[in-house]
Amino acid sequence: MKSLLEIKNVTVRFGGVTAVDGVSLSLGKGELIGFIGPNGAGKTTLMRVITGMVKPNEGEVILEGKDLSRLPIHERVSSGLSLAQQIVRPLVSFHALDNVILACGKKKTENVLSSLFHKDTSEESEKAKDLLTQVGLADSFYNFPETMPLGHLKRLELARALALDPKLLLLDEPLAGLNQLEARKLSDLIVTLNQKGQSILLIEHNLKEVIRICKKIYVQDNGRFLAFGETAEVMSNIEVQNAYLGKNKNA
Ligand SMILES: Nc1ncnc2c1ncn2[C@@H]1O[C@H](COP(=O)(O)OP(=O)(O)OP(=O)(O)O)[C@@H](O)[C@H]1O
Ligand SMILES: [Mg+2]
Repeated sequence: MKSLLEIKNVTVRFGGVTAVDGVSLSLGKGELIGFIGPNGAGKTTLMRVITGMVKPNEGEVILEGKDLSRLPIHERVSSGLSLAQQIVRPLVSFHALDNVILACGKKKTENVLSSLFHKDTSEESEKAKDLLTQVGLADSFYNFPETMPLGHLKRLELARALALDPKLLLLDEPLAGLNQLEARKLSDLIVTLNQKGQSILLIEHNLKEVIRICKKIYVQDNGRFLAFGETAEVMSNIEVQNAYLGKNKNA
C-alpha cells in the first residue's frame, strides 16, 4: 500500500516530561487506523506534532513523500492535513452553516474575516450544506453552537475538518462525551467517510467502537510505541492489556 503519512522517530519533551519518545508510524492511503493508549500516553501531543502545533525535539513528519517537519500549520493544512480537536471549538457567534462556510473559505484564504465577507459564498455555501448533511446535521444549518448538544457539536467539528478536503483526516476523541448510541452513529459515519476513500487517523478511548471499525490499531503508552498491527492481534497483546488494566477508566 502506498504510504500517505510517515512519522519518523518523533520525540517531544515538555520540561522533564517526555510526552512522545522516539515513535514512528506509517499510514497508507485509504486506511483508517485507530490510535489508542491510556491517558497521558502522548496521543494528542503526537497529533499536534503532525499538524505543526507542537514542535518536536526530534523527528520528521512526511505526507505523500513531502517533508512537513519545518512547515508552519497553515502550510501543512494546504498540504492536506486537517484535525478535528479533542475539545470542540466552533465559532459561537456564527450558526452551524456559517461555521462550515468559514472553514471552506479558509482553504482559499488564510484570513477568516475576508473569507466571511468574500463576495460570492454560494459555492462554499452549497459545499457546507452538503457536508452538514453528510454528517447528519441537515436540520441544524441555522442552529447556533450554544443551542446544540455535544453530539451535534462533534459532528459540526467533523464537517469543519472535512471542509478543508484533507488528504488525511486527524480525529482526536470524536466520540468522547457521547452516549453509546451517538458514539455508534458517529463511528458509522467515520466508516462511511473511509469507505468513500478518506484516510483517517483516529484517536479514541472508546475501545468498543475502535475495535469494531478499525482494521489496524496503533498503541502508545507513556509516550512510547507499544504495538501496531491487525486489531485482533494488537488487542490480544499482553503488554497492551497490561497498559490498560487499572489505568484507563474510560476503556
Ligand atoms: N503543553 C504541554 N506542556 C506540558 N506538558 C504537556 C503539554 N501537553 C501535554 N503534556 C504532557 O504530556 C503528556 C502526554 O499528554 P497528551 O495530552 O499528549 O496525552 P494523551 O494520550 O492525549 O492523553 P488523553 O488520553 O488524556 O487525552 C502528559 O504527561 C501531559 O501532561
Ligand atoms: Mg489527548
